[in-house]
Amino acid sequence: MSLPVLNIQDLSIHYQTEQGPLQALRDVNLQVPEGKIIGIIGESGCGKSTLISAIIRLLAPNARIGRGSVNFKGRDLLRLSRDHMRALRGDEISMVFQDPMTSLNPVLTIGRQMYDVQHRSAANRAEKTARSLQMLDRVGISDPATQLQRYPHHLSGGMRQRVAIAMALMAEPDLLIADEPTTALDATLEVQIIHRLKELQREFGCSILFISHHLSVIAELCDEVIVMYAGEVVESGSVRDVFIDPRHPYTQKLLECDPARIAQRTRELPVIEGSLPNLVDLPGGCIFRERCSHRLARCGEDRPDLSGNQHQAACHLLDAES
Ligand SMILES: Nc1ncnc2c1ncn2[C@@H]1O[C@H](COP(=O)(O)OP(=O)(O)OP(=O)(O)O)[C@@H](O)[C@H]1O
Ligand code: SF4
Ligand SMILES: [Mg+2]
Repeated sequence: MSLPVLNIQDLSIHYQTEQGPLQALRDVNLQVPEGKIIGIIGESGCGKSTLISAIIRLLAPNARIGRGSVNFKGRDLLRLSRDHMRALRGDEISMVFQDPMTSLNPVLTIGRQMYDVQHRSAANRAEKTARSLQMLDRVGISDPATQLQRYPHHLSGGMRQRVAIAMALMAEPDLLIADEPTTALDATLEVQIIHRLKELQREFGCSILFISHHLSVIAELCDEVIVMYAGEVVESGSVRDVFIDPRHPYTQKLLECDPARIAQRTRELPVIEGSLPNLVDLPGGCIFRERCSHRLARCGEDRPDLSGNQHQAACHLLDAES
């Protein structure tokens, strides 16, 4: 088994709000092995973006890290200086967000930006331009020579996102973090981009942490999946194990709403009855108990720990089974 590029241990983060501390993440553990694609799924508000913001140290000003570590290639990112972290972002860790304009500069041509992103390479200008052309072609952009002369606002949303992905990979990062990169695109485009991304990931050998609401995208792209609920990891394992044999009632509900939905390519996560608990005033016991149809007496008092080896889930039903 390969070593993790990213190893998050017991990470807890809260936001300071007028109502009191909002517990956005609690005791999150997550590993991204070298060369693997790890997906994160969970309803809106479960803490996916907070987790990513913590890794790249771009948390909102009212966020506070309670405890934990974010180890990237042997360094705890939470303890790195700002300058060191800034240098690492974009070089060793690249990001792609839902809005490609977050990663593109509106006043520079695509060609200039693709040239700049290769600053670590010893290649000359002509070689770098050739590489930009090749990357645009690889992400499926036709007539790359013309596109290099254009500005981001000349391109469609789908093309901009392809350019953002091409640039993120050209930096040859060890870790690419993608937060809903294809959610705003139409389904056909999304499939195309996912296929290209998978091909390129194999070629470049980087690890990817990929967030999506779309179960089908996670199933197609990822090696392993982390299921989050209300700030906690409730299940994790290989895509195959989690999608074929989900162990946590939350994951089961996500998948059983429509068994065909993994194959089908749906736009959103299924809607599960009830709502997320109030993160400012958390209930004791299992975080999912208000919405769980299997709950036991102890679920109101004891918080279940993750159990299992490669395939883990946090549910008292699993203790009863073993
Ligand atoms: N700056 C902030 N101040 C207060 N609360 C916040 C702040 N940012 C996020 N939250 C809250 O923290 C929780 C986790 O939010 P987060 O954005 O990480 O979720 P998410 O899983 O990325 O959701 P989505 O799928 O909608 O992007 C939510 O309850 C959210 O309302
Ligand atoms: S621990 Fe209890 S409430 Fe929580 S998911 Fe399992 S059965 Fe449901
Ligand atoms: Mg988010």
